[in-house]
Amino acid sequence: DYYAVIMAGGIGSRFWPVSTQEFPKQFHDMLGTGETLLQKTFSRLNKIIPSENIYILTNEMYLEITLKQLPEISEEQVVLEPAMRNTAPCILLSALKIKKKNPNALMLVAPSDHWIEDENAFADDVQACFNAAQRENILLTLGIEPTFPNTGYGYIESDKNDVSEIKKVKQFREKPNYETAKQFLNAGNFLWNAGIFIWSVKSIVASFEKNLAEMNALFSKGISVLNTSEEKNFIEKNYSGAENISIDYGILEKADNVFVKKATFDWNDLGTWGALYDKLKKNENQNAVVNADTFLKNSENNMIFTDKKKLVVLDGIEDYIVVDKEDVLLLFPKKKEQEIKELLKDVSAQF
Ligand code: GDD
Ligand code: MG
Repeated sequence: DYYAVIMAGGIGSRFWPVSTQEFPKQFHDMLGTGETLLQKTFSRLNKIIPSENIYILTNEMYLEITLKQLPEISEEQVVLEPAMRNTAPCILLSALKIKKKNPNALMLVAPSDHWIEDENAFADDVQACFNAAQRENILLTLGIEPTFPNTGYGYIESDKNDVSEIKKVKQFREKPNYETAKQFLNAGNFLWNAGIFIWSVKSIVASFEKNLAEMNALFSKGISVLNTSEEKNFIEKNYSGAENISIDYGILEKADNVFVKKATFDWNDLGTWGALYDKLKKNENQNAVVNADTFLKNSENNMIFTDKKKLVVLDGIEDYIVVDKEDVLLLFPKKKEQEIKELLKDVSAQF
């Protein structure tokens, strides 16, 4: 059987002020399509995976928003984390849960906040990976052709001469420094990790046993098929004791059975306002607009976002992120988008 887990516990702080700890970006309609990123992710996966087999991994504080946004799932399908421990612990928790239910299950792990338009290509790629994961004890990643030395991604190396559809990974390197990322890009045989994984629950649990043995020992005894109160107590008691580590550093960099399929779909991880700008349709002056009505004079290349319908009037504004939210108005140069995290820290210290 096919299962999916959607990771929806991140904060998306570079999308401040829209994305906040109380209400992170995956629960927002960032593209102005009428659906939130989580809802879009769910329906994309639901094309391949039955809705009752799709689990949402998120922090306790987002239970209510999750159930409200996905009325088709039951509370049993929400795996709640009492603390933020990055992606390895929550993936192990859900893998153990699904394995209890069905030891032969195949599992897809997907972030909740990415942009993927071609849902058919996505479904075909995932199906090919499910087929491979069914046959062999391997961990599959989806790879994206890199276009610049982005230091925020994982890099996947395969053999130059390997022409198979699904290639053995020689090296998985999470978030290399700029110099290394440049070398990887020039080498030509590296792909970006899309952060979407496919494996059998058996293979991933075995890999945790080997590579994150302590975490596995900590969790393996208390997880059940249903969200019982015993399990809840167990998680409350033990979750914070787990190492704070991502699946990329904790498993993929260490495992020797990682494989990669090059994605046939166009992908963007919508990490920043600029990434969102790139993916939206632009008006004649290259302004991208979400939700707002606009009156624009001598204004180009701006990313304009309002949380509800509102008239935005700009004159002489270029290359800016213009965000209007109930309680915050942000005007910030688009080329400094990476620095929003730091800005947010400074702002939070005072407000
Ligand atoms: N449930 C849960 N709990 N989800 C989490 C947590 C957590 O503690 N932390 C992060 N997430 C979710 C985020 O919401 C996001 O959907 C996904 O897990 C990945 O986390 P990010 O924090 O966005 O990871 P990243 O962008 O630094 O790096 C990952 O994604 C890149 C591609 O976007 C890595 O997998 C990289 O290798 C990859 O290139
Ligand atoms: Mg990310």
